[in-house]
Amino acid sequence: MEISFLLNGETRTAQIDRPTESVLDWLRAEGLAGTKEGCNEGDCGACTVMLSDAAGSRAVNACILMMPQIAGKALRTVEGISGPGGELHPVQQAMIGCHGSQCGFCTPGIVVSLAVAHLNGDTADDDVLAGNLCRCTGYAPIVRAAETARPAPVPEWMRADAAFGFPKISSGGAGAAGGGQTAPLFAPDSADALADYYLTHPEATLIAGATDVALWVTKQLREIETPVFLGGCTDMQRIEETDTGFRIGAGVTIARLKDWAGASHPALAALLRRFASEQVRHSATIGGNIANGSPIGDGAPALIAMGARLTLRRGAERRQMPLEDFFLDYRKQDRRPGEFVESLDLPKSAPGLACYKLSKRFDQDISAVCGCFNLGIEDGTVTQARIAFGGMAAIPARARRFEAALIGQPFTEAAIAAALPVLEQDFSPLSDMRASARYRMQAAQAMALRYLRERSGEAVSVLDIAPIEVPEVQA
Ligand SMILES: Cc1cc2nc3c(=O)[nH]c(=O)nc-3n(C[C@H](O)[C@H](O)[C@H](O)COP(=O)(O)OP(=O)(O)OC[C@H]3O[C@@H](n4cnc5c(N)ncnc54)[C@H](O)[C@@H]3O)c2cc1C
Ligand code: FES
Ligand code: FES
Repeated sequence: MEISFLLNGETRTAQIDRPTESVLDWLRAEGLAGTKEGCNEGDCGACTVMLSDAAGSRAVNACILMMPQIAGKALRTVEGISGPGGELHPVQQAMIGCHGSQCGFCTPGIVVSLAVAHLNGDTADDDVLAGNLCRCTGYAPIVRAAETARPAPVPEWMRADAAFGFPKISSGGAGAAGGGQTAPLFAPDSADALADYYLTHPEATLIAGATDVALWVTKQLREIETPVFLGGCTDMQRIEETDTGFRIGAGVTIARLKDWAGASHPALAALLRRFASEQVRHSATIGGNIANGSPIGDGAPALIAMGARLTLRRGAERRQMPLEDFFLDYRKQDRRPGEFVESLDLPKSAPGLACYKLSKRFDQDISAVCGCFNLGIEDGTVTQARIAFGGMAAIPARARRFEAALIGQPFTEAAIAAALPVLEQDFSPLSDMRASARYRMQAAQAMALRYLRERSGEAVSVLDIAPIEVPEVQA
């Protein structure tokens, strides 16, 4: 099958045999070996490339990006970060000047991440670099390079991709059903087209951002027989205001949801800042996160605590349910053949919401426990409670007995501490490589006390706690 796109400023048409072929494999086979393969699972950022379309330019991981996902878009690799005449990008110049590279394996990915941030005026260096693992240089010189390059003007060639008239790039064979000569491929351009196709092909595998599905290919070496790429369903990528709240399309990326939530749902935005890395967040969708049904996914506990309702669609038929009812058992969801996640309804605001993600690393790590609390408090008494956890059971779930034990009680440390043992009736967590069962339970209980402290105005996030002043030592 043919996939057409812009590569480092030039139109290319790639002939591919497998629709699941990764962009990383294709690039390296083409001799563009600056893009490195480290983990091949989205963790290290050595394969970072810049992807642009009408929505703008972003850094993504080429190892978990499938070739049909770049059809009609512009791809820029590290080879295209320097100018057409070999001029160094300000970020490359600064990496040299600040000694930002030792062995150099991570360097192409870091240069691409920093160049995208430079293009977009993004100054949150820690966030920008959270998905780029450097094992030997250390981050101080790399951050210095980002700061040094910041005042330099964006080179012309970097702006060219986003300014390109995207409809001018034919998407090649990716736009039509059966569009390949060697493997079937379907890339619908609307929810209606997806609904029609999926009803008659319930065996198909839906691929949104591919940040879960790509690992089935790269790590489990599975082949996807009937892939359906959802990236063209732009009507599923909308965030709309409704009479009661907001409707979030299943195809909205985690990055976009995070940016949007900053105004109306800051606690959700703060949690999503800890979701994977910039590169993963720019590809991953909220629909994929929910449909995947992982017991340690971060989206579900927060959305359940907010009171989100899910819309599922099968053909022309739609049904709605509270999000918590969607998860039935380990990796078993209430989804019929041919039915897909279309959207989520969120309330206008959730002022009582706070979310705590506990993982071994602060950045780019999956939760051991994710606890989300949303309590209504009137005159010092708990009047409403929605509390949901990830990592405490085979599915993301509400702590219903604990919620009931809190309602009607004073919102005090003594009352919450007295109710904590009830959490053991709600959950019997597992021990695994991330945490022991006992640790999980104790951490979940500590989160309830942390919620009390946070709502009482104490700083509970490591990002909010001011560094301790160290007195000067007299010589
Ligand atoms: C390095 C790395 C770090 C990660 N960190 C986190 C993290 O911190 N927190 C976290 O929660 N997750 C994390 N993930 C997991 C993953 O990024 C999320 O689950 C993501 O939201 C999946 O979305 P996607 O669009 O990429 O889904 P895809 O991979 O495209 O699909 C996932 C599943 O959902 C199905 N699907 C997709 N869209 C729909 C739809 N509309 N209707 C029905 N089914 C659908 C697919 O068929 C598949 O079964 C991480 C992944 C990686 C690779
Ligand atoms: S090779 Fe590690 S993120 Fe792609
Ligand atoms: S320079 Fe060696 S891993 Fe970063």
